[in-house]
Amino acid sequence: MSKDKIFVTGGAGYIGSHTCIELLNAGYECVVYDNLCNSNIEAIKRVEHIASKKITFIKGDIRDKDTLQKAMKGCSAVIHFAGLKAVGESVKKPLAYYETNVMGSLSLFQVMQSLDINSIVFSSSATVYGEPQQLPLTEEHLCMPINPYGQTKVVIETMLQDLFRSNPNWNIAMLRYFNPVGAHKSGLTGEDPHGIPNNLMPFISQVAVGKRKELAIFGNDYDTPDGTGIRDYIHVVDLARGHLKALEKLANISCESINLGTGNGYSVLDVVNTFENISQKKVPYTIQDRRAGDVACCYADIKKAKTLLGWTAQFDLQDMCKDSFIWQSKNPNGYH
Ligand code: NAD
Ligand code: WQD
Repeated sequence: MSKDKIFVTGGAGYIGSHTCIELLNAGYECVVYDNLCNSNIEAIKRVEHIASKKITFIKGDIRDKDTLQKAMKGCSAVIHFAGLKAVGESVKKPLAYYETNVMGSLSLFQVMQSLDINSIVFSSSATVYGEPQQLPLTEEHLCMPINPYGQTKVVIETMLQDLFRSNPNWNIAMLRYFNPVGAHKSGLTGEDPHGIPNNLMPFISQVAVGKRKELAIFGNDYDTPDGTGIRDYIHVVDLARGHLKALEKLANISCESINLGTGNGYSVLDVVNTFENISQKKVPYTIQDRRAGDVACCYADIKKAKTLLGWTAQFDLQDMCKDSFIWQSKNPNGYH
């Protein structure tokens, strides 16, 4: 039996597609709204194949209110993934980030308001915290992002908080993801970055399958046990299930920012070594200078997600490496 119809912006993307699998498996209907600027329609076909269910796909831009209005009719809640996410690009093209992320979210919220849809799960990011002042990072930590991408997430969170203050009938979960990695265990869906990957796990995977020669490790002189940067990597399927939990608990949530991470920090070398063990492939690397804007160490306090959502991550670093490797091996050129 079919449950509610959920409007998923950016549902063809990496995290959105994995969330659609979980939504369909749980009996929800999905309306995916995506302009495909950073994704491929093939991802939707594969989600439908994995879940043996159909998705209503609408190609559209979140800045286009008329199309949004028509597409969203009949939906009971929104999960809002659509946006631009490359930190370095946001430094070079800040206005593009404010336009897509902030103005796009504004038009989405306006259309939701006009249709009286007031339940939303929003993709925020641990990037909102900036340089950690204390660890683990709790949701009360100051938000001082150090790049335009992170600023757009703070503006959107602020917009949602103000909206809630104006009308407490809204139910808003703002999920602050740490470092999403991994893929669906089938190897049919995964992360498909365009060009040279910015992020660690897709880069390692591409080296392991021979697509790239070696990994550049950005700095081994941080104040960490092995000198390389520490992050809280989280399996994308755990993350997707976190969205499902948020959706199910939304009626009891007023307006909350919630960390989604595992609470564990792993260094770059931990990830490389685990990946090599799991894949039985060599991942050659060189040590390079630190990357501008990187922090030494970042991991989540996960108590709030546990208390409010009844959610904790189930997969460990080995699962994350294994599923990333299977996806990359089966799809050396992503969805193309
Ligand atoms: P992604 O790029 O794979 O997915 C985003 C989707 O939004 C893409 O399918 C893209 O085509 C679509 N999109 C972009 N602009 C659009 C527009 N104007 N109108 C309609 N669709 C548009 O990224 P992802 O990794 O799945 O991230 C999803 C969300 O989670 C983003 O908001 C991102 O900022 C946030 N987030 C991601 C990470 C991460 O490391 N992947 C971490 C924290 C937060
Ligand atoms: C992880 C570690 C690097 C690549 C980014 C965004 C953040 C969020 C998640 C959206 C760091 C090191 C990396 C490489 C390396 N996204 N590294 N060689 O920077 O923690 O977070 O993605 O919200 O906003 O900033 O993730 O995977 O790029 O880096 O040594 O080729 O791996 O220095 O220590 P990051 P990452």
